[in-house]
Amino acid sequence: MDRSYSAAVISASLTTQRLGRTIHLFDRVDSTNSIAARLGQEGAPHGTVVSADDQTSGRGRRGRPWHTVPGQSLCVSILLRPDCPAGTDRSWLAWIPLAAALGVAEGIASSISRSPQLKWPNDLLFGSKKVGGLLCESLGTSGQAPLLVVGIGINVNLAAQDFPDDLRTTATSLTLECGRSVDRGPLLAAILNRLEPRLDAICRSELDSIRQDYRRACATLGRRVRVELQERVPLEGMASDIADSGALLIVPDAPTATSPTPRVVEVLAGDVVHLR
Ligand code: BTN
Repeated sequence: MDRSYSAAVISASLTTQRLGRTIHLFDRVDSTNSIAARLGQEGAPHGTVVSADDQTSGRGRRGRPWHTVPGQSLCVSILLRPDCPAGTDRSWLAWIPLAAALGVAEGIASSISRSPQLKWPNDLLFGSKKVGGLLCESLGTSGQAPLLVVGIGINVNLAAQDFPDDLRTTATSLTLECGRSVDRGPLLAAILNRLEPRLDAICRSELDSIRQDYRRACATLGRRVRVELQERVPLEGMASDIADSGALLIVPDAPTATSPTPRVVEVLAGDVVHLR
């Protein structure tokens, strides 16, 4: 690990109440999400952070592998036991991936003075290139509270040649964007400092402010997109808004089986491609 990447450095810059107050740092693990899940099942507290210099089986959304370069990437997973609105309506859960992406983007912006944009639901972009992404996994419930892991992968100090051929034209790193190397310890602290208030706002049911800020940061809105849906024909159209539910609203280019006249379709889960 680089010298900035120690629990002492990270803790010294934390302003959070609970996120990152327990930190586990490893040289190499299979996946920090898997370690955080195991710790969660064993009773680890809300906000526990697991990070590693390298992952042997890092995973991305939709079962894709996640590429890391030892010591140059940020691989972190945060265990959440949100004590949010009680009751059976758990629709607020859909906002966690979106609010988390917003908090991570804000943490990056405060570290390098450049703000990534968001590709719905939670990819982080500079221009058309991806600098990071989030993988949120639900582990069911523990007592009354849902148990979740928010995994964050960021290309921090990767040079262009560190990316495999298939990612070289579509991925970027913080160092390529800001022209200097970025210390991962202070970066992680900045991310946790911005993430906590965004997640806490969900528990105070302040979804409107998250929604407004997410819209502002979202590069997907107002663009033509193709949405790859699980086991369904991809949907092409204009991304028009983010619904109250956190769904992406699409006005299809052409009638579809589920939407025979071109009206708005709500997409709750899918992979978005920005079209030209
Ligand atoms: C994506 O864009 O597909 C999400 C990538 C998420 C990668 C991170 S790295 C830390 C955590 N551990 C994992 O195995 N995945 C996430």
